[in-house]
Amino acid sequence: MPGLRIELFLLGALSLLMVACGPDDPAAYPKPTTFVADLPPQGLGFPNLPWPQDNPPTVEGVALGKRLFFDKGLSLDYSISCASCHHSDRAFSDTVVYSQGVGGALGTMNAMPLFNLLWANRFFWDGRSPSLRDQVLQPIQDPIEMHLPLGQALDRLSGDAGYRVAFGKAFGDESITVQRLQWALEQYLLSLTSHRSRFDLSRRGLASLTPSEQRGLDLFMREYSAPGSGRPVGADCFHCHGGGLFTNRTFENNGLDSVLKTGFQVVSGLASDRGKFKTPSLRNVGLTAPYMHDGRFATLEEVVEHYNSGIRSSSTLNANLRVQTGGLRLSAQDKADLVAFLHTLTDTTLAQNPHFVAP
Ligand code: HEC
Ligand code: HEC
Repeated sequence: MPGLRIELFLLGALSLLMVACGPDDPAAYPKPTTFVADLPPQGLGFPNLPWPQDNPPTVEGVALGKRLFFDKGLSLDYSISCASCHHSDRAFSDTVVYSQGVGGALGTMNAMPLFNLLWANRFFWDGRSPSLRDQVLQPIQDPIEMHLPLGQALDRLSGDAGYRVAFGKAFGDESITVQRLQWALEQYLLSLTSHRSRFDLSRRGLASLTPSEQRGLDLFMREYSAPGSGRPVGADCFHCHGGGLFTNRTFENNGLDSVLKTGFQVVSGLASDRGKFKTPSLRNVGLTAPYMHDGRFATLEEVVEHYNSGIRSSSTLNANLRVQTGGLRLSAQDKADLVAFLHTLTDTTLAQNPHFVAP
């Protein structure tokens, strides 16, 4: 019965093939597991933005991104990882004005916190990077940060059996490419959500604010009142730091300087964008000192005093600040309450999430 023999032969060949594609074969990995991001519940005012469709998050991809983020091997002399400048217990920002890169090189910008990037549309203080997958390649190669040519980064990763398996688990096979490096870091960074501050709990009826914190919130949300208007004093912060994200997700001149640096003009080419920098989220701001793009303020008290009495006029100063001639006129109690409120935006769970931080 030649027919049966052929069938048996085919069956044998098939089972051989199945063995060849089994878990021992480095070329084949099972489909990665969908990662369920920790998204904020309804009612906290977060915009509803989807994950980039071409890079869906997986447990294996996020884990790989985390491993890369904490790996000093992505710097020229094995001394600096992303986490060296982005500390998980500081909402992934740095404690110093200017972080040190390879060989002690100093930057000229204050390291930014990293959370809720899923809702950000441009990256860096001046917005020069349009996406996270673009952004992540810059610190690796930047001579004042990690200073590692991408080719060398790929060689190091490909020479490491553990990474080959990790890339295989995340992307189906062991090839390690620039694009996969970008995707893994993007998945990890997008997964870093923060929405469990005491302020959030109070919004959900699970905690309450002290009278001082509540007064601070009221001041934060109230418009500036001109002298003689008869209205109560307002700190007018919400225009730029409003909504669930505590940022208007754009670039503004908040009156730091009268002689303007380039800022967002580097992206738009417009003189009207000179001196404008990314409005940072005020979530976790109690953890992210020093403050502003150049780290010029050491404390939240100094920041509040800037808005109260230190606004510098210039051609691109935000219109809401322009009308505040003579300053906000906050009392000492107002300022203390405002700072107390800002501290309610701290989310201590960020540094405890096992998906986010090194074990
Ligand atoms: C030597 C310190 C240093 C290292 C290392 C470093 N960063 Fe940064 N990071 C910074 C500084 C400083 C900024 C702000 C730079 C600017 O705006 O010009 C920044 C900004 C960012 C931003 C923009 C955030 C936003 O809201 O726009 C992201 C994302 C980021 N870094 C991710 C990473 C990743 C991923 C790595 C590792 C591959 C990394 N960083 C390594 C210092 C560092
Ligand atoms: C016109 C828009 C605008 C208004 C109004 C505004 N801010 Fe800001 N805020 C910004 C921008 C833009 C930055 C970053 C500026 C820079 O670094 O160049 C910033 C930075 C900050 C920072 C530093 C955050 C960090 O991570 O470095 C704090 C804190 C802050 N603002 C609090 C407040 C408070 C409190 C108020 C109300 C009294 C307020 N802001 C009003 C736009 C605004």
